[in-house]
Amino acid sequence: MHRETLLIVFGARGHGRVVADAALAAGGWRGVVASDRDPALWGTELLPGVPIVAPDALPGLRTPLALHVSIGDNSSRRAEAEALRDLAPLVSVVHPRASLAPSAEIGAGCLLAAQAVVAPLARLGAGVIVNHGAVIDHDCWVDSWCHIAPGARLGGASGVGAGALLGSGCTVLPGLRVGAGVRLGAGAVATRPIPDGATWVGVPAQPLRNP
Ligand SMILES: CC(C)(COP(=O)(O)OP(=O)(O)OC[C@H]1O[C@@H](n2cnc3c(N)ncnc32)[C@H](O)[C@@H]1OP(=O)(O)O)[C@@H](O)C(=O)NCCC(=O)NCCS
Repeated sequence: MHRETLLIVFGARGHGRVVADAALAAGGWRGVVASDRDPALWGTELLPGVPIVAPDALPGLRTPLALHVSIGDNSSRRAEAEALRDLAPLVSVVHPRASLAPSAEIGAGCLLAAQAVVAPLARLGAGVIVNHGAVIDHDCWVDSWCHIAPGARLGGASGVGAGALLGSGCTVLPGLRVGAGVRLGAGAVATRPIPDGATWVGVPAQPLRNP
């Protein structure tokens, strides 16, 4: 798919810059173009050499396209991937300085940012963000549309349900399950399983409020 294919980075804010930077570093694309629904961004650049165009202009680009939805918020990222699914295939972006074990599996539309680690036999669903310096250790599973924020660490054989946010620098001890839609606060340490939909913070992590 590379070489002839133009990569559309959809979502032209801070996270879009991280994705475009990783895509340019990985290379192999014919080019990288950004898009966003905010008209104020059209005609500007996401990064030097990465123009931001209106969504209406995308179908008219006369070249094979690939799509990466680059929105940090999990539900918005998922919604845009649904809305744009007829435009182009959803593709993952892996920074050349991320570490992806050959035995690990990642779904479509994932980002592995610089210094991210996805260890042997880990499995990621679609649209998962493994942000800068985050670690998904061996045998972990992460369901679709999760955001594993910078510096977060998942101990071996732990798991994360769909749509969860694991905040910057948090830790999940090995073998634990973090439920779907959970928000685990920045810096938290999960020492027990966390039920679906909850927000937990602190060391050891405790519920912030009931779901
Ligand atoms: C946990 C979190 C999701 C809660 O967000 P929220 O529902 O908007 O909560 P609020 O900001 O209203 O804070 C509610 C309370 O929790 C406390 N709190 C918030 N985040 C906390 C954290 N990470 N650790 C400890 N306490 C925290 C606040 O101080 C506040 O306490 P108070 O009621 O005594 O004043 C959020 O603070 C967080 O940590 N998100 C992770 C962000 C991140 O790492 N993003 C990465 C982007 S790349």
